[in-house]
Amino acid sequence: MEKGVTVWFTGLPSSGKTTIAHKLEGILRDRGHKVEVFDGDVIRKHLCSDLGFSKQDRDTNIKRIAYVCKLMTRNGVVAIAAAISPYREIRDYARKEIGDFLEVYVKCPIDVCTKRDVKGLYKKALNGEIKGFTGVDDPYEEPLHPELILETHNESVGDSTNKVVQLLEDKGYLQPVRKGHRSSV
Ligand SMILES: Nc1ncnc2c1ncn2[C@@H]1O[C@H](COP(=O)(O)OP(=O)(O)O)[C@@H](O)[C@H]1O
Ligand SMILES: [Mg+2]
Repeated sequence: MEKGVTVWFTGLPSSGKTTIAHKLEGILRDRGHKVEVFDGDVIRKHLCSDLGFSKQDRDTNIKRIAYVCKLMTRNGVVAIAAAISPYREIRDYARKEIGDFLEVYVKCPIDVCTKRDVKGLYKKALNGEIKGFTGVDDPYEEPLHPELILETHNESVGDSTNKVVQLLEDKGYLQPVRKGHRSSV
């Protein structure tokens, strides 16, 4: 059985986590891997519909995602988590629990994220319509030692995704595509 791993994307809202996660999912599936995406927004509709955005609820949200990723990882799946996961301590907890864990910091300046505002929530937070929004009036603790940093304001989605594929190859979780075969993206 192939070795499983969790790729954990963390970053501000609109930094690019969901976009890269799904692009990566497609590439890995094309290469014949078992893969699942655990997107914060989707998880909050199902597994975590009882939770809000206090620190305690955010931590519980991440603990549940980490638990499912752990089960997937030990069964040879590439589990891809895409959640803001703003608190360093709970990300480190996930790393310890899962073991085969690659933290990818999806880094993008707040002004670019605010301009992208994929779901219109920065606007609402800045207007005071919603409270406790990460990056506006709630903290985001940057990773100190992520395996990879993606600067999504400076690179294309394809560039960012290729860097994750390369990381998976470098760490031995993914076989490189042999020369003469089609490229990864
Ligand atoms: N290198 C990149 N990686 C990911 N997204 C990017 C990149 N460059 C531009 N974008 C754009 O930024 C937005 C990111 O949105 P999304 O993936 O929903 O963010 P998040 O899930 O982090 O809230 C998308 O509109 C995407 O097309
Ligand atoms: Mg998202």
